[in-house]
Amino acid sequence: MSIKRKIRFGIIGCGLMGREFAVASARWPALLETKAQPDIVAICDVNPQLFDWYTGNFDSIKIVTPNYQDLLAAKEVEAIYCAVPHNLHEKLYCDIIRAGKHLLGEKPFGIDLAANQRILAVSKLHPNVFVRCSSEYPFYPGGHQVHRFILDNPWGRIIEVNSGYLHSSDLNFSKPVNWKRMVDINGEYGCLGDLGMHALHLPLRSRWIPKRLSASLSKVVTQRPDGKGGMAPCETWDNATLQCEVNHPIEGYAFPMTIKTYRIAPGETDTWYIEVLGTKFSARYTTKFTKTLQTMRYEDGGPQVWMNEDLGYTSAYKTITGGIFEFGFTDAILQMWAAFIDEFNEPRDDMPFRCITPEETLLQHKILTAALESGKTGKTVALV
Ligand SMILES: NC(=O)c1ccc[n+]([C@@H]2O[C@H](COP(=O)([O-])OP(=O)(O)OC[C@H]3O[C@@H](n4cnc5c(N)ncnc54)[C@H](O)[C@@H]3O)[C@@H](O)[C@H]2O)c1
Repeated sequence: MSIKRKIRFGIIGCGLMGREFAVASARWPALLETKAQPDIVAICDVNPQLFDWYTGNFDSIKIVTPNYQDLLAAKEVEAIYCAVPHNLHEKLYCDIIRAGKHLLGEKPFGIDLAANQRILAVSKLHPNVFVRCSSEYPFYPGGHQVHRFILDNPWGRIIEVNSGYLHSSDLNFSKPVNWKRMVDINGEYGCLGDLGMHALHLPLRSRWIPKRLSASLSKVVTQRPDGKGGMAPCETWDNATLQCEVNHPIEGYAFPMTIKTYRIAPGETDTWYIEVLGTKFSARYTTKFTKTLQTMRYEDGGPQVWMNEDLGYTSAYKTITGGIFEFGFTDAILQMWAAFIDEFNEPRDDMPFRCITPEETLLQHKILTAALESGKTGKTVALV
């Protein structure tokens, strides 16, 4: 077996997502074809209580610090996964890139459009630093298959596209407030900034960019327990529906696309979906029924029959896992990391699926900013 190149990583932000990356790196032997692998050598968080789990599980960690500048100064660190709240994206991402460390940053990649543009300006000044943004859902087998369909373009004329990302835990009014409900930390986007990148990932990759949109934004829960016996205001949007008009990037005709980002969608626990309806071919996939891809092929006058196919474990990057088994969230994270490491190590034209580029994060911000304006004014907003 050939020796894999080790890429020495630091993690900044050791919370929910930091741990997911650490575990993905420990599952690397599951991947059969990658020529490089991440090695976690440094961790940083302002909350030291998180460190024991990492150091107890990863002997490779040599630097443990509350100060992220220590990771930027460390020669041992080549690349960084940064998973911190949105108000810190601009400062930390810019500092990471200026320090010459490759970056997988978390979405939305800047708290707002202006912050995103400043991150991209720094990235442009450092073309040798590899920068990508995290979003793992299109790596589910059904998401990946829908992307292959998009490349083949079997739709006939696209009738409409629906893409969304739904949560429901906020239906519980007694759930305590957290930073995602605070404008100064999460950003004015609210659920749009939090969930929008996932819902927009495949549309952006397909160049289905809205030329104009109208948005309906709602705040369902206005206050939550503050964890100290009182109540705190919920400042950010809970739910957003974007009604977009898109021009087909090659064929030019217009079609409607809806993007939904809901924190309060009763019964939906982490549901990501994509649906493309066409005159000749339609496809839909939802993580609610993880195994199943639905497709319908149609010829004039013929029957209109949706087919259900259980895809099994058909991933972008081959693994040891048998094709008869199921795929889940942690598999999608592993696949996304395989894509990041693969493109970083050996960029080429025929990669199975790339992580989000900085330019795609900018398009996302333009869409979300237009949605905020539309939500506030009640008007349809053109994308600039
Ligand atoms: N890709 C996904 O599916 C997904 C899922 C959830 C969250 N996210 C994104 O990941 C990012 C982090 O979210 P999370 O849910 O992991 O949050 P979290 O609150 O669980 O973790 C964030 C961590 O950052 C730490 N931190 C804050 N300031 C810091 C600083 N100055 N230096 C170092 N560490 C600092 C906090 O102490 C905390 O441990 C956000 O951008 C969020 O949108 C992505």
